[in-house]
Amino acid sequence: MDDWIDYYDSTHTIYVSKLHRDVHFETIAADIIGYISSKDSVVLDYACGEALSAEKVADACGRLILAEPAPGVRGRLVSRFAPNTKIRVRSLDELRHMDEKSIDLAVMNSVAQYMTPAELDTAFAVIRRLLKPAGRLVVGDILQPHVGMSGDVKALLRFASKHGFVKDALWGLARTALSDYRELRTKIGLQRYSEADMLAKLAAAGFTATRAPINIGHNRSRMTFVARIAFARSGES
Ligand SMILES: C[S@@+](CC[C@H](N)C(=O)[O-])C[C@H]1O[C@@H](n2cnc3c(N)ncnc32)[C@H](O)[C@@H]1O
Repeated sequence: MDDWIDYYDSTHTIYVSKLHRDVHFETIAADIIGYISSKDSVVLDYACGEALSAEKVADACGRLILAEPAPGVRGRLVSRFAPNTKIRVRSLDELRHMDEKSIDLAVMNSVAQYMTPAELDTAFAVIRRLLKPAGRLVVGDILQPHVGMSGDVKALLRFASKHGFVKDALWGLARTALSDYRELRTKIGLQRYSEADMLAKLAAAGFTATRAPINIGHNRSRMTFVARIAFARSGES
């Protein structure tokens, strides 16, 4: 296994049980819906993963574009959501060929940590081109430099206790300690940004941003940022 896209395309055990996976995607969907400002909005979920609750997000907006780099995951998204005419599935490359200024809300949750800083800059540029002038980009689940894996373990156990899967969470943590996840986390690592670093990175990509009071999802030690296009660059109308 070479990278995090391969990992997410494998039969990984990041979700400790079906219940964990289901409540994870329900929580993410509810949080994304909280950022949708109109029933007509066009929403992009950038690197959406399995997006099991995407139909709830689609119900709350005009059109939902699910973009996912892992080919196996993308194939499942295509078959799962084929009957829903509000949902389109795209690769990340296909986003480059979509109409500019066509998206009201782009969400990138729990993705930046798996990208190199240069890949994240490229993704911000792709999204900036797609956003309408008044559109928003929400970047969630950013790991802070000083919070280690113990913060993730505590957050998972708190989430498990709320939803009744503590036993599975403990088994899952033991499995993870011996898994490809642990190996990749040690070998490639996860990118971390301080609040100031992420605000500066978004500013360099042409956004003005603020940190949201709470993170998307269950992990309160991670950060979410809400960004808007700061200015028109030369050559842009
Ligand atoms: C933890 S999942 C997040 C899925 C979903 N957004 C959520 O909040 O549940 C990480 C996602 O990032 C994608 N990913 C991993 N490495 C990536 C990379 N280098 N560039 C873009 N996406 C990547 C994976 O394919 C996966 O969909």
